[in-house]
Amino acid sequence: MTTSLVTDATPAPSVFRAGLFDGHVALITGGGSGIGRGIADTLASLGAHVVLASRKLERVQAAATAIVEAGGHASAIAVDVRDPDMVNRMIADVHEMHGRIDLLVNNAAGNFYAPSETLSANAWKSVIEIDLYGTFFCSQAVLPVMRARGGGCIVNISMTLHYRGWPLMAHATAAKAGIDALTRTLALEWAPYGIRMNAVAPGPIPTEGVRKAFTPPPSAEGVPDLFAAEKAMESYGRNAIPLQRWGTPADIAGMVAFLASSAGAWITGAIMVVDGGEWLAKPPRG
Ligand code: NAP
Ligand code: COA
Repeated sequence: MTTSLVTDATPAPSVFRAGLFDGHVALITGGGSGIGRGIADTLASLGAHVVLASRKLERVQAAATAIVEAGGHASAIAVDVRDPDMVNRMIADVHEMHGRIDLLVNNAAGNFYAPSETLSANAWKSVIEIDLYGTFFCSQAVLPVMRARGGGCIVNISMTLHYRGWPLMAHATAAKAGIDALTRTLALEWAPYGIRMNAVAPGPIPTEGVRKAFTPPPSAEGVPDLFAAEKAMESYGRNAIPLQRWGTPADIAGMVAFLASSAGAWITGAIMVVDGGEWLAKPPRG
């Protein structure tokens, strides 16, 4: 039997106690797919009511329904995090519905590989606005709700590519560097309100967008070579990640749960790298 370095992370039993987040409300932007969905699954399995928010209501609705069918508490709401009015309405709606927001996970983002030489102004703007502005707008909007309850926790999902620089990712690396700066600055500004802000910097997790980036251009018949993509990803996992496997959404979710729990009570302004050691190892060129 062959194993895949891309998909075969042995699922470990949870180290968190059942019911850890009973009664808590967690709002996760981009919670309908990839890492955000993994965070939602983990928090819901520990008792939180998770509110999943993104542009495509049908996507977050489907994820929330699946969580409820698995025995959790979940709901969905539409938002474009670039739009401060929409963000304010989302926070007001969630607050009205639940009376509290304990945890905000700023996970929504957009990116694509593109040369900076030809990146259009709108492409630059779109990524910076989703990642950086979106993180700020959601955090600023939830502040009064958390402050009124005497505290709360915000976790921003960052990345590691800006630690060294990453060609073809000028927009996303600039945005995530801004998110790291925001994490430290708002942690200091909002600590007196009992609000902790931290970030998690994931290494490579094989979500849909990442798989696309590893897929060679389609054949003349328009068929994508998924086998070649899997091989390229296997090779990347073996050669570029010291712990020799790709990450999973659950790897990232575990760190979010830790930060949101009382184990993280004295942690603020921290950027927790969860990447199998990838960024410390020399990155491949290009
Ligand atoms: P993903 O599945 O594409 O998730 C992105 C999510 O953001 C989608 O659910 C999308 O939903 C939502 N979104 C995009 N634009 C939005 C907007 N304007 N308003 C509200 N929601 C929006 O990708 P992922 O890989 O899980 O990424 C999740 C986070 O992890 C991102 O912050 C990413 O930068 C970070 N990250 C990922 C990796 C990785 O290897 N996968 C590595 C490092 C960091 P809609 O389309 O419905 O809006
Ligand atoms: N290369 C170069 N430019 C690109 C591009 C690519 N691969 N993909 C999009 N763009 C450009 C568009 O051409 C457009 O610029 P223009 O108006 O000058 O032509 C600009 O980006 C905005 O694109 P649009 O599709 O209108 O924006 P959007 O707001 O609907 O989408 C994106 C935002 C572009 C970030 C889109 O990729 C997205 O929604 N991503 C969400 C999921 C994701 O990226 N996940 C990856 C992990 S975070």
